Amino acid sequence: MSQKTSGEPVPFRNPGWAGNTGEYELTEEQVRGDDFVGERPLDGGHPSVAPSYPYMKVEKDPEAPLFEGPYEERFRKILSRYPDPQAALLPTLNLAEELRGHISAETMDEVARLLELPDAYVRGVVTFYTMYNRRPVGRYLIQVCTNVSCNLCGGDEVLEAFLEHAGVGEGETSDDGNFTVIEVECLAACGFPTAVQINSRYYENVTPQDVPRILERLKAEVG
Ligand code: FES
Repeated sequence: MSQKTSGEPVPFRNPGWAGNTGEYELTEEQVRGDDFVGERPLDGGHPSVAPSYPYMKVEKDPEAPLFEGPYEERFRKILSRYPDPQAALLPTLNLAEELRGHISAETMDEVARLLELPDAYVRGVVTFYTMYNRRPVGRYLIQVCTNVSCNLCGGDEVLEAFLEHAGVGEGETSDDGNFTVIEVECLAACGFPTAVQINSRYYENVTPQDVPRILERLKAEVG
């Protein structure tokens, strides 16, 4: 990456990689795109990193089996990393959510059977963590931070803009199935308010004016 030296100013501030600040000769696609998010191979790659990071796909399949093909391979890798099945619960839930998009009560029970854990234990864990989706979400789950830093820099207005332009209420999914918009607590990107997480991708320094363009771009991705 090179810092801007000439030409038209790039209208994106502070891409926010590991403390790099300033203006760069980068396109919107590079700043807002997924060049720096990376794709996860279906089998998850090496066991040391494969299963643990929650990843959200655009197309979810709530009826997908737990687990088959490359996902079964990932599940085996998860089990290989932990001393007992109980310790593998969170990454197994992450994997189920990646595949199905949300963790329904039925999914909780299936995971309990897979790991030979009590149903109530799995339900207790899922309901403890707000980061698990317990209802279906759209192709893009838009999580807008309205915690302190983001709030001081207009997080509420950014949330309102997403709700207005996606045509939904908070927690609802748009009629075309593309967008679910929710308000969340700190996304750990406080240096770049307002922070928004859309599926696995972070958008930083988002203003209400950016919102229509972000949504258009996402719509274009799914055709
Ligand atoms: S307050 Fe918004 S990311 Fe921390």
